[in-house]
Amino acid sequence: MKFFIDTANIDQIKTAQSLGIIDGVTTNPSLMAKEGIKGEKNISDHYLKICNSVKGDVSAEVISTDFEGMIGEAEKLASLHSQIVVKIPVIREGIKAIRYLSSKGIRTNCTLVFNPGQALLAAKAGASYVSPFIGRLDDIGENGIELIEKLVDIFNYYGFGTEVLAASIRNTNHILRCMEAGADVATCPLEPILGLLRHPLTESGLEKFLADHKKLND
Ligand code: E4P
Repeated sequence: MKFFIDTANIDQIKTAQSLGIIDGVTTNPSLMAKEGIKGEKNISDHYLKICNSVKGDVSAEVISTDFEGMIGEAEKLASLHSQIVVKIPVIREGIKAIRYLSSKGIRTNCTLVFNPGQALLAAKAGASYVSPFIGRLDDIGENGIELIEKLVDIFNYYGFGTEVLAASIRNTNHILRCMEAGADVATCPLEPILGLLRHPLTESGLEKFLADHKKLND
C-alpha cells in the first residue's frame, strides 16, 4: 500500500519525506487555505514547492465546476510539474473533464467519492485515482471502510486500472483497516502514520534492553 501525506504544510511534508516511506501528497482547497496560500501565482508556487519537497504524485485540486473551467485549470496545473495529478470532483462536468484529460494523458484524482456508483463512473472515465472519503462517511454514521472493501473488489473484478486512494483518514486504525481492505493508497495526516509505530511492548522492551545494557556497561 502506498502512503500519501494529506497536507499542504511544507514542514510536515519534509518530515514525512525524511522518514523515507512517503509516496506522494494530496491537497485540497481547504488544506491550501489552512496554510494561508491565496492567489493564482502563490498557489502555483506552493504546488511547485510541494513537488520539490517530495518524490511521487502531488494532487492539486481545481476550483471550477464547469467543463471548460476545469480543463483550463487542469492543463495549467499539469504543466507546472510532471508529479502533478489533477483533482476533479465527481460531478457530471467532472466526469466529462476526467475523460477528456485522460485522453490527453493528464492524470486525474477523482475526489469527493462516497459510493460505488460514483467510483465506477470515475474509473470508466479513466481517472488515475478515486478518492473515497472514509472519515466523512463515518462522521454521518455510515461505514467508510466498507466502501473501500467494495471498491477494491469491484475494481479487481472488472480489472480497472484506477487506484483506490483512501482519503479522509482520521486515525491509525483507519490506516490498518485500509491496508486489510487492499486499498492501493492511503492518504493521511502525519500523526496517524506515526501512530503505526506505537506499541507498548515495543516501548517497554526497548526500555528494558537499554537498562540491561547500562547495568553492565556504566
Ligand atoms: C484528500 O484527498 C482529501 O481531500 C482529504 O483526505 C479530506 O479529509 P477530511 O475529510 O479530513 O477533510
